[in-house]
Amino acid sequence: MQTLAQYLSAQTISPSLSQLILTLANTSKEISHAVQHGALAGVLGAADSENVQGETQKKLDIITNDMLKDSLAADGHVKALASEEEDFIVPVNPQGEYLVCFDPLDGSSNIDINSLVGTIFSVLPAPAGEATEQSFLQSGRNQVAAGYMLYGPSTMMALTTGNGVQFFTLNPETNEYLLTNEQVTISTDTSEFAINMSNQRFWQAPMQTYIADLLLGEIGPRQKSFNMRWIAAMVGDVHRVLCRGGIFTYPTDNKNPNKPYKLRLMYEANPMALLVEQAQGKASTGYQDILDIEPEHIHQRVAVILGSANEVATCLEYHQQNYNDQEPAL
Ligand code: F6P
Ligand code: MN
Repeated sequence: MQTLAQYLSAQTISPSLSQLILTLANTSKEISHAVQHGALAGVLGAADSENVQGETQKKLDIITNDMLKDSLAADGHVKALASEEEDFIVPVNPQGEYLVCFDPLDGSSNIDINSLVGTIFSVLPAPAGEATEQSFLQSGRNQVAAGYMLYGPSTMMALTTGNGVQFFTLNPETNEYLLTNEQVTISTDTSEFAINMSNQRFWQAPMQTYIADLLLGEIGPRQKSFNMRWIAAMVGDVHRVLCRGGIFTYPTDNKNPNKPYKLRLMYEANPMALLVEQAQGKASTGYQDILDIEPEHIHQRVAVILGSANEVATCLEYHQQNYNDQEPAL
């Protein structure tokens, strides 16, 4: 089996990008170690702080954010970084060619119950000149690499550099990522969906109707039975979709009118959308491909509907029908 380094050296990507991906991969090995030690290392539980989005931070959110910041600063190829856990962008190396956006530990609510969590990353080209927030406001189509590391029964990495999607599995004996699937492909059709059903009464009409039709199973318009899964960590739900198909959505809702969307564009939606498109799936807000969004600020949130191409297309048909709902501004 090829190691990640061997795989990258055979690709037509710049050596600096390969180096950056190896830096991210090496840091994830340390994160995996910290996550595995859990209570033994005293890293579980809440920290005494909130992030810029007003969410309580877990100790591991802060620890993993610091690990990534330190290693990306030492890498040499990163001009600046943006993290879900940082209020502002962090300038790193004026000579760096890349900008990195990351969610250091996605699915924080799973940390204390020993369930799936992961790191999500997105690499953008750095425009010339001093790095500012404006430098990061590029559409997801500009990403030169994206992926995630999943800290589960095995530690895995999903990667795209624009040439399909590859899975690597961390060999615990050698501490090396090994290529275990060179061409990840999402099945076009599915009968599995993932949504937080407890928000049902807050969704807009298109999603209400779409999910209601899935629940009707054989006796409804879809004429087949659907199963539901919800890991409560996007990284885990997207991994399942990449492995065996499905549709994952965190739709617009009016639970909190000041926060109609949950997932972050730069740290979650864009990297996952690139992976999904590279694996032959689709990723949309309901009204637009996620990768076509022109970001307005780094912490912006969006509605996400992604997965098996035909199922996402069906869900989008419900959004094209004439309901009175307007998509709230970002
Ligand atoms: O980062 C946000 C996140 O943790 C996602 O990973 C996940 O899909 C979602 O929130 C879970 O939200 P909920 O609390 O509604 O299940
Ligand atoms: Mn997250």
